[in-house]
Amino acid sequence: MAMIEIKNLKIHYPIRSGFFNRVTDYVYAVDGVNFDIEEGETYGLIGESGSGKSTIGKAVVGLEKPTSGQIIYKGVDITKKSNRSKIHYNKDVQMIFQDSLSSLNPKKRIRDIIAEPIRNFERMSDTEERKRVGELLDIVGMPADSMYKYPFEFSGGQRQRIGIARAVSTNPKLIVADEPVSALDLSVQAQVLNFMKQIQREYNISYLFISHDLGVVKHMCKNMAIMTRGRFVEIGTREDIYKDPLHIYTQRLLSAIPSMSPATREADLAHRKEVEHIYRDEESRYYNENGRVLDLKQISATHQVALPDSELEKLKGGLA
Ligand SMILES: Nc1ncnc2c1ncn2[C@@H]1O[C@H](COP(=O)(O)OP(=O)(O)OP(=O)(O)O)[C@@H](O)[C@H]1O
Ligand SMILES: [Mg+2]
Repeated sequence: MAMIEIKNLKIHYPIRSGFFNRVTDYVYAVDGVNFDIEEGETYGLIGESGSGKSTIGKAVVGLEKPTSGQIIYKGVDITKKSNRSKIHYNKDVQMIFQDSLSSLNPKKRIRDIIAEPIRNFERMSDTEERKRVGELLDIVGMPADSMYKYPFEFSGGQRQRIGIARAVSTNPKLIVADEPVSALDLSVQAQVLNFMKQIQREYNISYLFISHDLGVVKHMCKNMAIMTRGRFVEIGTREDIYKDPLHIYTQRLLSAIPSMSPATREADLAHRKEVEHIYRDEESRYYNENGRVLDLKQISATHQVALPDSELEKLKGGLA
């Protein structure tokens, strides 16, 4: 069941220039995307830098006002501020950021950082709050006395876990995780992802998981969208995307996943070069004359791809 629905979301930023500082053009940061996040599931949002991922994430938590479109949660459109406060949206939906060193206030102790969202919604005694912060630290595998320290006293992976503890402090239903492990090395990434999964199972949390790396999200997401230039090029289940990628941009992102085994490294590199070559040759067919991603076309019940008609015909021919 969908817990939150994003409908035809558009976020255009004005570009101002000239002597009169007039609006001369727009950045189409997000340009008509649709998707649902299910209860207790992870939805992946994947694309390269500048594709519009964070802008979508910010709109979902209510930090960015859409140009048009709707985000429906509990039957109301939360793009309107009054609706957000009516349903305590800011308690139900939290965010984890990529860079914990700048997103956690360096002058505050961990206790205050973690308790801050709670203080906005609940009145707790000093003892109660200390107990709750201790529990939250325990959930992410950190000792209780961490609460008396400052962010700089922790490693990147530990800080990311503190960010997770803070995000879950209000018992949220949805967490927008914007590149939560991108700043960490591989072994620490796995550890943080495991904590996120464990917490998801225990508290039935949904994630909107944002990443530029299809390798990272593979074991996290049930459904996902691949995006570029503010639009989705392909959406589907994990199987659709990893086993049957149909858009040339998805294929390119998949070939960019670093190979783990030395045995296939050479072959992977050759494959990557070949895909890159095909991408350069064929790219233009996959976008319209203004460089806009084509409309999504339904391939199966779960799989939609922004294919040109010629490719769609080929696909149908192959299926027939
Ligand atoms: N406040 C803003 N004003 C104007 N343009 C913006 C603003 N915020 C983002 N943009 C532009 O919107 C586009 C999408 O940005 P966004 O931050 O969503 O990308 P992203 O996919 O999260 O990239 P990254 O992987 O680098 O974080 C970019 O071209 C960016 O320059
Ligand atoms: Mg971003």
